[in-house]
Amino acid sequence: MSALPTTNRRIVLRERPVGLLSWDHVEIEDGPMPEMGENEALVRTEMIGIDATMRSWLNAGEGYLPAVEIGEVVRASGAGRVVASNCPAYEPGDIIIGLSGLQEYFTCTDDLFSSKVAAGSDIAPLLSIYGSTGLTAYVGLIDIGQAKEGETVVVSAAGGATGSIVGQIAKLMGCRVVGIAGTDEKCRFVVDELGFDAAINHRTDDLAAKLKEHCPKRVDVYFDNVGGRVLDAVLGRIAQNGRVVLCGSISAYNETHKPPGPANYINLISRRGRMEGFIALDHWDRFPEITEVLRGWVESGEVRHVEHFFEGLESSVDALNALFTGANTGKVIIRVADPS
Ligand SMILES: NC(=O)c1ccc[n+]([C@@H]2O[C@H](COP(=O)([O-])OP(=O)(O)OC[C@H]3O[C@@H](n4cnc5c(N)ncnc54)[C@H](OP(=O)(O)O)[C@@H]3O)[C@@H](O)[C@H]2O)c1
Repeated sequence: MSALPTTNRRIVLRERPVGLLSWDHVEIEDGPMPEMGENEALVRTEMIGIDATMRSWLNAGEGYLPAVEIGEVVRASGAGRVVASNCPAYEPGDIIIGLSGLQEYFTCTDDLFSSKVAAGSDIAPLLSIYGSTGLTAYVGLIDIGQAKEGETVVVSAAGGATGSIVGQIAKLMGCRVVGIAGTDEKCRFVVDELGFDAAINHRTDDLAAKLKEHCPKRVDVYFDNVGGRVLDAVLGRIAQNGRVVLCGSISAYNETHKPPGPANYINLISRRGRMEGFIALDHWDRFPEITEVLRGWVESGEVRHVEHFFEGLESSVDALNALFTGANTGKVIIRVADPS
């Protein structure tokens, strides 16, 4: 093995962002190599998965994980290979998925946040369909949304990481699936390439009119990734006993004011519907079981996973902002280093 470097390139938070992230808020620096403690391994990061929730961790205040503090490395999930280990569970060469942060090297131990995966695994899908994205899509649609054969499922951010998997699983279950996305290209992609029944462009289409056209029996399950006006429009078309799965509200993450409540929530009363939020992390105990189901679908060609790559830590700001501008199709992943 070649000698380890003496510095660790990393992205640290300098100032809490307002609106979209920029290089005024974060800085790339050569920090010290992380020190490996007892029962810890040192991992060289190869890829980092970018999640919308990373933006919310940069705000002050408690979310479901504590905020990243000024001067700290920006939190993110990543994967790489062990280069040195004091941890009995990990050996040099093992592939680890963990809370890498936006940095070239990280330490981890054998806990809830880190796991070893099979030798020879392709890393990108581990950060998308076989990672928290796949778990989120599956748990949200099946456990929270209780989608059933013959029902109409609508999913927003349909061409994104989570939405693209939700729609494909719903199709496999025998649902009618309508995606909502921000460009005609993404709308074509989810219909032509992923097999959705129809798609609606939230930027250019009349949402209410298109929901009426494409959901003639109304909407039984709405998998909401975006909140805001899209959520309100779908609530306007909710079916009797409809379920709204609150997965994310990306339209609000960069806003300084809370958005107004969705006026059409009132339909949930007359139509005996419900809205329920969830956090995929709470369902981590089901991760191995769900991953196996997803693996079966991928290997049989029934579900596709799509990744959108950015190159190097220098692309961190662009990679995170892609989720908010809609520049991505599929899971955003930063390639940090080659396996060599
Ligand atoms: N609850 C959980 O445990 C959990 C876990 C993971 C992710 N999430 C949430 O799931 C959602 C999707 O995350 P992801 O990582 O899969 O991201 P993603 O869908 O790959 O990317 C986000 C997409 O959101 C759309 N978008 C951005 N701003 C929008 C706006 N103002 N109005 C409408 N659409 C907008 C964009 O697509 P268009 O081009 O279509 O506009 C963008 O591509 C996020 O809200 C995230 O926080 C929740």
